[in-house]
Amino acid sequence: MNNSKSTLQRKRVNILKILVTGGAGFIGSHTVVELLDRGDQVVIVDDLSNSHLKVVDRIEKITGKRPDFFLANICDFSAMEKVFKQYDFDFVIHFAGSKAVGESVEKPLLYYRNNLESTWVLIELMAKYNVKSIIFSSSATVYGQPDAVPIIETSPYSPTNPYGETKMINELFLKDVTAAYPDISVICLRYFNPIGAHESGIIGEDPQGIPNNLMPFITQVAIGIREELFVFGNNFDTHDGTGVRDYIHVVDLAKGHLAAVDYLKANPDASFLIINLGTGRGYSVLDLVKTFSEVTGIEIPYRITERRAGDIATCYADVSLAKDLLGWEAKFDLKRMCKDSWRWQSQNPKGYCGNCSQKE
Ligand code: NAD
Ligand code: WQD
Repeated sequence: MNNSKSTLQRKRVNILKILVTGGAGFIGSHTVVELLDRGDQVVIVDDLSNSHLKVVDRIEKITGKRPDFFLANICDFSAMEKVFKQYDFDFVIHFAGSKAVGESVEKPLLYYRNNLESTWVLIELMAKYNVKSIIFSSSATVYGQPDAVPIIETSPYSPTNPYGETKMINELFLKDVTAAYPDISVICLRYFNPIGAHESGIIGEDPQGIPNNLMPFITQVAIGIREELFVFGNNFDTHDGTGVRDYIHVVDLAKGHLAAVDYLKANPDASFLIINLGTGRGYSVLDLVKTFSEVTGIEIPYRITERRAGDIATCYADVSLAKDLLGWEAKFDLKRMCKDSWRWQSQNPKGYCGNCSQKE
């Protein structure tokens, strides 16, 4: 009796209380599912600027657990302070941010404010409420045009747009924070190209308007929302002339966050780390189109057009640091990524709610 009671108490002590900003978004929602599935307690703060409240219901449908949810802008210090006061967080995973490259060129004020002030507010509150660990969503976009592939974390910064610049500045800011506050540990995870969806098809990527990214464009062509795919250039120096990227299944990516949490838990003295999350393999636009058609039986009509401004030929990750340090590596192949993306799109032809308001 005594034994089982103490095991129970130990288990309770091991439950982590994690603040997930942007937890209603694409990568955030998949990470919340993985955290809840393993028994961690999750609190989401999201302003639903690029997501839907329905995501929280869907997370509950998959996991049988409902994360606490607060509708708030992370840049709102007093709203966030109420959340920090209410919970004794062990970790922060900071996904919230604006992420469209083209929009960032048109609206640098929005991007600099949203992507920098949010992190600043979180760090102020972490210092005040004694929260010691944060995992930050960075991006392979900070490398810009790489000198060599696979890209290692020590490659120089060379972002080519305001979005990428905000990610770089966040990393520099967080590094300075760890120098001044030795108690705070930071891992910046640089994601390559997340695609796919939860295997249930219940949550997935739901871009507003015309998708900027390749996979949601392909699935929207497949479902009949768009007539054809525009392939941005076929004269790059790659095996078939189209751009090569490191596509990673979003569930693998989500699990990378759990590995990062575990690393910081086991290494509380860790200071500041930058780690690539990718598969280490590159596929071209036409490889992706071909694989998608193979696994779904749906042909994707496409037309070759001009290159998109700023696009590079080839980008894929050196993933050895993630493997060595976190013991993590991506498991799902391109076929599985295509299958899961299609299951999500075909089960949800209009995304979470078509034309309904995001707050519904
Ligand atoms: P997403 O837009 O689906 O999710 C971001 C979430 O944050 C959304 O739910 C949005 O409503 C919320 N949000 C934005 N600003 C907010 C604010 N000020 N306060 C509260 N909530 C706010 O994007 P995602 O694809 O899940 O990306 C998550 C993070 O990963 C972002 O920081 C993004 O820059 C980064 N990232 C994404 C990719 C990618 O290709 N998807 C690649 C590299 C890095
Ligand atoms: C992939 C390939 C395109 C759309 C972007 C951001 C990056 C990161 C991930 C956040 C390229 C080609 C695309 C289309 C196409 N996001 N393409 N037709 O550009 O590698 O990265 O998303 O951090 O910052 O820049 O991804 O999916 O847009 O493009 O031919 O309609 O598909 O040219 O070769 P990208 P993508």
